[in-house]
Amino acid sequence: MTESICRVAGQGAYLPERVLTNAEISTFVDTSDEWIRARTGISERRIADESQTTSDLGYQAAKAALADAGLDANDIDLIVVATTTADLVFPSTAALIQDRLGLRQGAAFDVQAVCSGFIYALAVADGLLKGGVFNRALVIGAETMSRILDWEDRSTCVLFGDGAGAWVLERSQEGNSGLLGYDLRCEGRYTPLLKTTGGVSATKTSGFLTMEGPAVFKHAVKKISNSMERLLEREAIDIADIDWFVPHQANQRILEGVADKLKISRDKVVSTVARHGNTSAASVPLAFHQAVADGRIQRGHLCLLEALGGGLTWGSALVRF
Ligand code: ACO
Repeated sequence: MTESICRVAGQGAYLPERVLTNAEISTFVDTSDEWIRARTGISERRIADESQTTSDLGYQAAKAALADAGLDANDIDLIVVATTTADLVFPSTAALIQDRLGLRQGAAFDVQAVCSGFIYALAVADGLLKGGVFNRALVIGAETMSRILDWEDRSTCVLFGDGAGAWVLERSQEGNSGLLGYDLRCEGRYTPLLKTTGGVSATKTSGFLTMEGPAVFKHAVKKISNSMERLLEREAIDIADIDWFVPHQANQRILEGVADKLKISRDKVVSTVARHGNTSAASVPLAFHQAVADGRIQRGHLCLLEALGGGLTWGSALVRF
C-alpha cells in the first residue's frame, strides 16, 4: 500500500479591521515609531473589535480556507485550533468554531503551545489523518493577544497583534505534495522568560503577558536554527532546495538572524511582521496566506515553517504546497 500524505487542500486568513499604528501606541506609552521599527521591524498591528473573540477570527479564517479548498464544512471531520487566547476556559475554541460552521460530526479540540501552536497543531492533525482516524482537518491558528497585554508595559504591548489563519488538510494516497515532517521541542524550565502573570488555577484571572525579551531573543535564533537543521537532515533535504522560509513573525531581526545562520537568501524569507506584529499561533498561517495571495508561494513549492514561543516551545515543519 502506498504511504499516505496530508496535502494542504486550501488555506485562508482573517485580520480584524482596526489598525493600531506605532504612532498611536506612542500616545499612551513612552515609546516611538523609530524605536519599535528599529528594534522589531513592526509598523502596525491589527486589534480585534471589543465584540470579536478568538473564535470569531478563527471562524472567518476557516471559512476562507474552506472556500479556497472548494469544500463545504461538512467535508471536515477534525478541527484543531492553536490558541493561547481561548474565548472561554471551556469548551474549546475549536468546539465553538465547529458549532459556528454548523458541523455535527467528527472531533474538535485546542492545542496550547503559544507561538509554536500552529506547528504543533499541524503535527497533531497530520498524525490523526495519516493514522486513518479522520479524513479531513481544519487546522486553525487564532489569537486575540491584545486581551492579555499590559497596555502600560512598553516592552511587550508594542509587539503583538490579533488575527487568524487556517489550513484544510486532507489525506491523500497520490503525489508527494503535503506535510513532509516536523521537529517539535519544549523546555519548560524556561517558563520565567515568557509567561502570563496569572491563570485560572493559579490566580483565577488570565493575567498579563511578561517577557524577558533579550533572553528570549538569544534562545530564539539558536533553537530555531537547530530545529530546522535537525528537520532538514532527518528529511534529507538540502537548504538550497527550500523555495520559501515562512517563520513565526516575532521580530524582523530574529527572522533575518535565522535566515543568515542557515544561509537562506533573504529574498526567500516571508515577512509580515511589519504589518501584523506578533500574532502568536496565527502568525505562520497569516504569513503563508500573504505569500500565496501575492503569488510568491505557488503549488509545488517547498516551504520551511518555524516558530518559538512560551514554554519555551519551538519547532519547524516542512511542507510541499
Ligand atoms: N520603546 C522604547 N524603549 C523601549 C521599549 C519601547 N517599546 N521597550 C523597551 N525599551 C527600552 C528598554 O527599557 C531598554 O532601556 P534601557 O537600556 O534604558 O534599560 C532598551 O529599550 C533596550 O531594551 P531591550 O529589551 O534590551 O531591547 P531589545 O533590543 O532586546 O528589544 C525585544 C526588545 C524587541 C522584545 C526583543 O528582545 C525581542 O524581540 N525578543 C524576542 C521576542 C520573541 O521572540 N518572543 C517569542 C514569541 S512571543 C510568545 O510566545 C507569546
